[in-house]
Amino acid sequence: MVGLFSRTVVAATVRMPKWFVGWVSRRYVAGSTLEDAVGIMKRLSSEGACFTIDVLGEEITSIAEAQYFLDEYVRVVDAITEHKLDANLSIKPTAFGLLVDKEQGMVNIEKIVRMAHERDMFVRLDMEDHRVTTDTIQVVLDLHKQGLTNVGTVLQGRLFRTLDDINELEVELGPAADYRICKGIYLEPEDISYTGYQDIVDATNACIDRMLAAGAYCSIASHDLPVIKYATSALESYGMGPGIADPRPNAGKVRNFKGPGYEFQMLLGVRGPMRRKLAAAGHRTRVYIPYGEKWYEYSIRRLKENPTVGAQVAKAFLMPWSNRP
Ligand code: FDA
Repeated sequence: MVGLFSRTVVAATVRMPKWFVGWVSRRYVAGSTLEDAVGIMKRLSSEGACFTIDVLGEEITSIAEAQYFLDEYVRVVDAITEHKLDANLSIKPTAFGLLVDKEQGMVNIEKIVRMAHERDMFVRLDMEDHRVTTDTIQVVLDLHKQGLTNVGTVLQGRLFRTLDDINELEVELGPAADYRICKGIYLEPEDISYTGYQDIVDATNACIDRMLAAGAYCSIASHDLPVIKYATSALESYGMGPGIADPRPNAGKVRNFKGPGYEFQMLLGVRGPMRRKLAAAGHRTRVYIPYGEKWYEYSIRRLKENPTVGAQVAKAFLMPWSNRP
């Protein structure tokens, strides 16, 4: 019943004028400009958060389109430095051309990672759908081989392959591996991924445990209580926690200007109270800040993908004061 209500609201919303979608999404998207993103980060800094910035857009159709992202991320790096923000970059490999021209795509990603390296900044490669999983991991391996250790990828708990990927990355990178682990937003085919809620939670938790056992840096990106609870008790079992230097004997020295071996990450506008609770307990919490001209496409995708969003749209409409980023 709730699912039907939610789908109906979402179906109605995506047919609404652009301004209405913009109003609903202002909670999840910092705005269309870098200045909007800087404003939000300055405000959320007072809540003890740090940030990762995503210039909205993905899967370009011609390699020339990558230039927009190259230019915009240069501006992002400058803004982080100028405003002394505790922030790093999240990039989508397909926005740099990984699917249209693999070689040039890799060159483009290297340019960003190198530029960030010169400013002591970390770059996270967001993980897109299964067409690019292997290549995205390969980019990280290639860049580490070139001494660019300020880069790490995202792994998706729902994919069957992920535990093997962690094992392989442990061999290749050792404790310099730096992950964001999430459930995975793409609804992948059932021959390569778990599709049921509990299976996805269990698989994601198993990955968290494996990453911690490997001495890697582990960013737990979930708003789901069972995952967060599992992660906090797994951290405890490794003697890790707020204010404690990473006690794992195999922990890496490369920590990319971040916390002691782990952090929690959440999307802008989602589960703020839970994030603030984690921050108040002393955990490092990072907010994913999407902004850019492509805010409309991103918002429509989010509206269609998350079955709970319908209820949130209704809440924003009925209680407009609750709809703030
Ligand atoms: P779940 O979906 O069960 O959500 C728990 C609750 O959180 C929901 O009931 C709802 O209340 C709230 N919620 C979650 N997502 C919401 C949303 N978008 N809007 C409103 N409410 C929401 N995926 C991927 O494939 N590649 C990637 O690179 C990333 N990167 C990434 C970075 C960060 C910082 C986060 C937090 C997440 C990602 N993801 C991602 C997305 C991730 O894979 C996953 O799809 C979502 O986080 C939702 O899964 P949860 O674990 O939050 O649980």
